[in-house]
Amino acid sequence: MQKVRKAVFPVAGLGTRFLPATKAMPKEMLPVVDRPLIQYAVDEAREAGIEQMIFVTGRGKSAIEDHFDIAFELERTMSDRGKDLSVLEPTRLGPGNCAYVRQQEPLGLGHAIWCARDIIGDEPFAIFLPDEFMVGKPGCMKQMMDAYNQVGGNLISVLEVPHDKVSSYGVIAPGKAQGNITQVMGLVEKPKVEDAPSNLIISGRYILQPDVMRVLEAQEKGAGGEIQLTDAMAQMIGKQPFHAVTFDGDRYDCGDKAGFITANIALALARPDIGPSVKAWLKTINLD
Ligand code: G1P
Repeated sequence: MQKVRKAVFPVAGLGTRFLPATKAMPKEMLPVVDRPLIQYAVDEAREAGIEQMIFVTGRGKSAIEDHFDIAFELERTMSDRGKDLSVLEPTRLGPGNCAYVRQQEPLGLGHAIWCARDIIGDEPFAIFLPDEFMVGKPGCMKQMMDAYNQVGGNLISVLEVPHDKVSSYGVIAPGKAQGNITQVMGLVEKPKVEDAPSNLIISGRYILQPDVMRVLEAQEKGAGGEIQLTDAMAQMIGKQPFHAVTFDGDRYDCGDKAGFITANIALALARPDIGPSVKAWLKTINLD
């Protein structure tokens, strides 16, 4: 089985739901406590053994490139002042560990992934949607990588949502399950509640075979008039193994303001440095 060495991070979205915060700043740079969302996704990838991070960016997203670069003036000033630089360690992606490619038009997630086809080449690869903030031990992608080592092929992470929420997501038709691994019999992007085959949604982590790029090449527009990754994946079912991994951990939808605030509160409470004072303040709130 070929090792998964590369991951694609589609980060070209405009982030209109967070305006005006995202007018001049990529939504992926919004911090949960003191790390930008994109940093958590990269950390999760590293933990799973991914070596090369491929960012599919767009205009106005250069802050992401700066974030993962060496900040020479900052580092020099900090070290001259005797400050600890270890806080910057996770932000360093050397030239061999990252690549940037632009999605020039907002044609959908499937199109964004297709923009990375030359860098992916003929290898299986991972995808991370950084809005989906997954907190687990081990992380979501590591859990998927363990499943990949058992079943190979294509894998997506799934989790249950209330039935009335399925229309915002890609939904699976589940087959046989063994432990946390479920066979995928069908996939549908943003179905009507009454048409949804289950309440198991695709939660933003994928391990796919490179063949999906060839399917995407010819993919017609789907839900929302966009080229959908889900539609391309659906065409691979039956031709290659396709499984879902039920994520064991906490998930926050940081594409949504309430989910983003919840993530900040949850992570702040878990931090030994600021947790106690945040908790003390929360206890003073009258929630009625
Ligand atoms: C995308 C995918 C969808 C998935 C979702 C997870 O949708 O197309 O299948 O369930 O991310 O957040 P989007 O949120 O871009 O509309």
